[in-house]
Amino acid sequence: MSYVMGVDLGTSSVKVSVVDKAGQIVSQESASLSLIQEQPGYSEQNPEDWVTATTVAIVNLALKDHVDLNQVEGISYSGQMHGLVLLGSENQVLRPAILWDDTRTTKQCQEIMDIFGDEFIKITKNRPLEGFTLPKILWVKENEPEIFKQAKTFLLPKDYLRYRMTGVINMEYSDAAGTVLLDVVNKKWSQEICDKLGLDIDFCPPLVNSIDEVGTISSRYAEYSGMSENTKVFAGAADNAAGAIGAGILDEDQVMISTGTSGVVLKFENDTKGYEGRLHFFNHAIPDKYYSMGVTLAAGHSLKWLYYTFGEDEPLQDFVKRANDAPVGAHGLIFTPYIVGERTPYADSKIRGSFIGVSSLNTKADFVRAVLEGVIFSYADILKIYHEYGQHFDTIYSIGGGAKSPEWLQIQANIFNTKVSTIKNDQETGIGAAMIAAIGVKWFDDFKSCADQFIQKGKSYWPEPEKVEQYQKLYNIYAKVYGQTKEINHELIDFRNDN
Ligand code: XUL
Repeated sequence: MSYVMGVDLGTSSVKVSVVDKAGQIVSQESASLSLIQEQPGYSEQNPEDWVTATTVAIVNLALKDHVDLNQVEGISYSGQMHGLVLLGSENQVLRPAILWDDTRTTKQCQEIMDIFGDEFIKITKNRPLEGFTLPKILWVKENEPEIFKQAKTFLLPKDYLRYRMTGVINMEYSDAAGTVLLDVVNKKWSQEICDKLGLDIDFCPPLVNSIDEVGTISSRYAEYSGMSENTKVFAGAADNAAGAIGAGILDEDQVMISTGTSGVVLKFENDTKGYEGRLHFFNHAIPDKYYSMGVTLAAGHSLKWLYYTFGEDEPLQDFVKRANDAPVGAHGLIFTPYIVGERTPYADSKIRGSFIGVSSLNTKADFVRAVLEGVIFSYADILKIYHEYGQHFDTIYSIGGGAKSPEWLQIQANIFNTKVSTIKNDQETGIGAAMIAAIGVKWFDDFKSCADQFIQKGKSYWPEPEKVEQYQKLYNIYAKVYGQTKEINHELIDFRNDN
C-alpha cells in the first residue's frame, strides 16, 4: 500500500491523517494544543508544542493504529495562518509565536496605514489588520527590541513545523500572502514595504509553491518519530486554502464557509481584481490562482465559550440541540459574535459581543439558538460584500466542525436563502493537505482530477421559505447592533484597561 499524510495544524489541536490512493482516510490521530493568554487580546503558543503534538499523533498512528510509516510516500500540511515565529541565528525560536487571533497590534496597523495609505492595498491586496503577521513583526520591533535584534528570519506555524521535520527553511505563497509583506501580483516580498518599515528584505524567508517538494524527512526527525527518510515533503497551504481544496472549491462561482474556532467565507478567484481591501485576498495553493475571504473571529469559539461557561454535564452536541427548543429569533434575543473583536466586515479589535433583547422569559435554549444564529448573521454580513460586487452563489459548501451540526446547517440555509451542502468526509483541511501531497508524488496531474477521486459531496439543506422571511427581518435588526454598540464597547474596553 502507498499512502500520503496530511498534517492539519490548527489552533486547538493538530490532526494527522493517513490517506490512500482512493482518497479514504485509513487512519487519523490528533493531539490537543493549548493557548497562552497572558493579557486580554494576547494569544500565543509555544512552537515546540506543535512539533511535540504532531509527533505524538504520528507515533500513535504507528503504535496504536499499526500504520506502516514506511509506506507514506509524501506528506504535506495545512496550517493556522498568520502566526509569527521569530527565529535567531541558529534557527532557534526567540519568543512564543503570536497567533492569528491576537489583537495587540492596533497601533502598528495604524502606523502602516499612516505611511502607505491605499498604496498598501495596491501592493498586498489587503488592509493591515491586527491578525496579520507584519503588524506583529512591528510590535516586537517596537516593544521587544532586544529580542528583535537577534531575529534572523521568521516563519508561519506550519512552515516552522515543516522546517523541524526537514531542516529546510522556506514559506509557501498561500500563507506568505497573509503576512501582508508580499507583493501578491508579482509573487515576491515587497521591497517597498520592507524599506519604508525599516526591515531588511533578507529577513523574509525563501518562497516556494504549495506543491513544491522542499525535501525529505530529515534523519533526525525520522529517528524521533519513526517516519521514513524517503518520505517526500511538500510545502502545503494555509488552512483556509487547504480547506477550500479539500472541499473541492476549484471554480470561480464556488464559495465555502468554514466554521472552526474562527469562521471564514471563502471564494476561489481566477484573477487579481480583489475587493479594495474589504475582503482578504491571497495567492492560492493552486499555482497562479487566488482566494478571497472574510473572517468572523469567534465562530465555533462563540459556541464553545457559551458551552464551557453555561453548559451543564452534557456533550456539546446535546447542548447545541437545545436550539431546537427555541423558535427562529430565540424569543427576541440577538447575539453578535464579537467576543474577541472582529475582522470582516468590521475590522475592530475593540468591539465586543452583545446579547440584545434579553428578557426574563428567555431560557438556555434561546441563548444557544441566538449564538448559532448570530454567527451565521455575521457570515451573511460577509456574503453581502460579495453581493455588492455582483457575486451570487447557487450553493454554499459548509465545512469544518460547525458543519457537523444539522441544526446549524439548516439555520445557514435559511439565513442565506441558499442551498447549503456538506462534504462527506468532513476533514477538509486535512484532506486538502493530503491532496497537495498526492499531487506532489504524482498520483494525479492536477487538483481537479485529484478532487474527482478524493471528494464526495454530502447532504444538502434547502431554505424553508417561512423561516427565510423571518430571518430577513431579523437580519435587518442584527445589522444595526454593531453601529449602535460600538461606542459603548470601546468605552468599556478603555475602562477595563484603566482599572
Ligand atoms: C484567517 C485566519 C483564521 C486562521 C485560523 O485569516 O486568521 O482563519 O487561519 O486557523
